[in-house]
Amino acid sequence: MAAATEPDIGQVDLLDEIVRLKKERNAVLLAHFYQESEIQDVADFIGDSLALAREAEKTKAEVICFAGVHFMAETAKILNPERIVVVPDLDAGCSLADGCPADRLEQWQSRFPDDAVTISYINCSAAVKARSDIICTSSNAKKIVESVPADKTILFAPDKNLGRYLIKETGRHMELYPGTCIVHETFSERKLVELRTRHPDAKLIAHPECEESLLDTADYIGSTSKLLSFVVEDAAEAYIVATESGILHQMQKNAPGKTLIAAPPEGNCACNECPFMKLNTPEKLYLALRDLKPRLEMDEELRLRAKKPLDRMLELSA
Ligand code: 13P
Ligand code: SF4
Repeated sequence: MAAATEPDIGQVDLLDEIVRLKKERNAVLLAHFYQESEIQDVADFIGDSLALAREAEKTKAEVICFAGVHFMAETAKILNPERIVVVPDLDAGCSLADGCPADRLEQWQSRFPDDAVTISYINCSAAVKARSDIICTSSNAKKIVESVPADKTILFAPDKNLGRYLIKETGRHMELYPGTCIVHETFSERKLVELRTRHPDAKLIAHPECEESLLDTADYIGSTSKLLSFVVEDAAEAYIVATESGILHQMQKNAPGKTLIAAPPEGNCACNECPFMKLNTPEKLYLALRDLKPRLEMDEELRLRAKKPLDRMLELSA
């Protein structure tokens, strides 16, 4: 595993070197569906937040290299403290996690009864997890909400769009922290209407982080892994995909005959790409594996507090 003298970055085939270094460092490379295609293609495991957390928990590799965003790598460290966790870019954050610092969550919680149950979406910091009763991801959120006794007040943070969707799905009242994802609130209704007129047979499929008005017109709503399996299993031939455009790579690979159209943002920007996920590049990934840094480190007391609600989630979604 030890880092020996390595060639200069300009002289190597990055993808070949990543594959070689993974073996040499006894590292597992976990990647989220929103990573760029080249990174997905060299990963040992690609998945949604829940699947990646499970994979991180069970790996026997000495090093976990996490191609995703900060909260995902933190989750890996919380569940697997004895492994070295490295990330291509420590600054790869998330607008949901960044918009909900622990002190602001605490202030918001203080407005509600002490025995209220806080369910936090996994897109939050370890400090926010430590102040939560249960964690959920978009794949298991409905089950987690339904597990809370009916007489309890539920506080849901930090994604108000996912929260509002869950209220509709479960019929449970929940207080919603006012956070959003900058990628999923970018889709243009005006352009979507135009697209649907041009492709009347295409199904609109959406991640629950999208805004209510978009979700109300969607044919199917689900986490990234559920959107992927829907496209593979469903009989339609064309889909408009309202989530980060990185998912299209696995959809194209797994359902090669289908037409996939990325839902467009309002402006002439690439705003349907997550700027945090896209901070990770093959160059940075190569360097992370070569130098075994930057590393994700965590205070043990914080880790233990953040682990409790994560363990609760894993038990409930087994
Ligand atoms: P999934 O768990 O559905 O992959 O979602 C992660 C995420 O960051 C969505 O924006
Ligand atoms: Fe966070 Fe949105 Fe990026 Fe997902 S897509 S990591 S929720 S900013």
